[in-house]
Amino acid sequence: MSKGTFYITTPIYYPSDKLHIGHTYCTVATDAMARYKRMQGYDVMFLTGTDEHGQKIEEKAKAAGVTPQEFVDNIIEGKGGILDLWKLMNISYDRFIRTTDDYHVAAIQRIFKAMYDKGDIYKGAYKGLYCTPCESFWTESQLVDGKCPDCGREVRYAEEEAYFFRASKYADRVRELLRSGFLEPASRVNEMINNFIDCEGGLQDLCVSRTTFTWGVPVDFDPGHVVYVWLDALFNYTTALGFQNDKYNDYEKYWPADVHFVGKEIVRFHAIYWPAFLMSMEMPLPKKVYGHGWLNFHGMKMSKSIGNVVDPVILADRYGVDALRYFLLRDFPFGSDGNFTNELLISRINTDLANDLGNLVSRTVAMVIKYFGGTLPEERTADPMDDELISMAGALRDKYEAQMEKYAFQNALTEVFRVSSRANKYIDETTPWVLAKDEALKPRLAAVMYNLLETIRICAVLLKPFMPETSAKIAAQLNAGDGLMTWESAAAFGELPKTASVTKGDAIFPRIDMAKELEALAGAVKTSE
Ligand code: MSP
Repeated sequence: MSKGTFYITTPIYYPSDKLHIGHTYCTVATDAMARYKRMQGYDVMFLTGTDEHGQKIEEKAKAAGVTPQEFVDNIIEGKGGILDLWKLMNISYDRFIRTTDDYHVAAIQRIFKAMYDKGDIYKGAYKGLYCTPCESFWTESQLVDGKCPDCGREVRYAEEEAYFFRASKYADRVRELLRSGFLEPASRVNEMINNFIDCEGGLQDLCVSRTTFTWGVPVDFDPGHVVYVWLDALFNYTTALGFQNDKYNDYEKYWPADVHFVGKEIVRFHAIYWPAFLMSMEMPLPKKVYGHGWLNFHGMKMSKSIGNVVDPVILADRYGVDALRYFLLRDFPFGSDGNFTNELLISRINTDLANDLGNLVSRTVAMVIKYFGGTLPEERTADPMDDELISMAGALRDKYEAQMEKYAFQNALTEVFRVSSRANKYIDETTPWVLAKDEALKPRLAAVMYNLLETIRICAVLLKPFMPETSAKIAAQLNAGDGLMTWESAAAFGELPKTASVTKGDAIFPRIDMAKELEALAGAVKTSE
């Protein structure tokens, strides 16, 4: 029976370039959370997609000599595109929205009109310093030596007719919302309030239409204007469920979202303007916005324009998708920035996956085959020496759950690996190879093997959201059918049948030669093209 619904989203990605590992980070985190909630029995809606409008895409398409639609289609659906990347990374999204989809475009037009009719969107003039070649407005403080920060040319004062959203009207309600725990981590709350609401001049009305380019949702009652890309993009979370359109019918079922995962630089849009737009539309507000940190490379945010992007496809090809998924969520606390290095990746794979988990599985399975021909006898002798491992494994699910509920992926994984390394230590303490020498100690040896298999099983269940393929491989070696790989079955120790059996499989994570790999990666991994 379903425990209820759980609606989770990633940001929708700009299809302006190939995605890099920084984008993959957020999507993998969302996927792990979605899989975890499904495992718990929730009816999950996991939404991702692409944010396809705006001047940047228009310019890129022009430079490539294709239409904007052709340009985005290629980056999304073409070979090695976004859809291929999510397939490779085993992303289990339920729905994929493209903001160029007709239903979304028509819905945005209706939403814009409704806000206009209400008086929350009004016509005014965008005033500022304008760079004609770049078609961009700048504020005084953004200029570099009094010139355009992008191209270095002279700017001039200009005015452009534009529509504005009355964000100021909602400032007090948004401030209150931010203080209520809506935004996590809590460390981001004061920054939002101080910089955007309680700043000089207060929360400013937001310009929500442009007339200097055409690649956007047309304002249907005022030709020449296109809807500002962020208003267009943010409402994807609701149009993808059928809000203001007939394409889907599950708005009532899933809205409001349980959580929006977003990178820290777009927290402002999600924690201030998004709730204000929804307040204007008199719609329920999402329950939570979680602003995660950046994956940095050599201390700087990975980004195409800086030229320090890491290609996830190369890493997944070399080490496997699960190793990469694991590394991303194990090495960096979700709410903070993390520095990606090849050394870190390889050493994490070697330490946790090859030496710890991999070794535990292969040693245990090999011993069950060697000492018992692959199937444990029913007769077992317990020993107080078993107690610590049994109680740790039995308590693991609750500890893991407490961390997952806080989106603390790193801590949840630490809990699992604490138990798996305790199990390795248990092998050293119980010395099965000594027990095996004495026929009279076979029941004791069977108990040791059972405790190891059961510990491995519980770990494998809880690793499922992070490493689905690995979890399945372990289950196959333990002959654990689906019923033994459920959330419920990980609640307590002792679910495996007494006469548990195993099937030999390949090593789940072979050890990597660090020096050799680093050399190979130095050429392969950094793709600034
Ligand atoms: N299109 C907007 C989102 C609209 S949501 C209504 C956008 N797109 S993006 O493609 O530029 O970024 C998508 C997500 O990727 C953002 O959450 C961003 O923070 C994240 N990341 C991009 N580079 C990143 C890192 N280097 N590290 C972690 N996340 C990064 O913003």
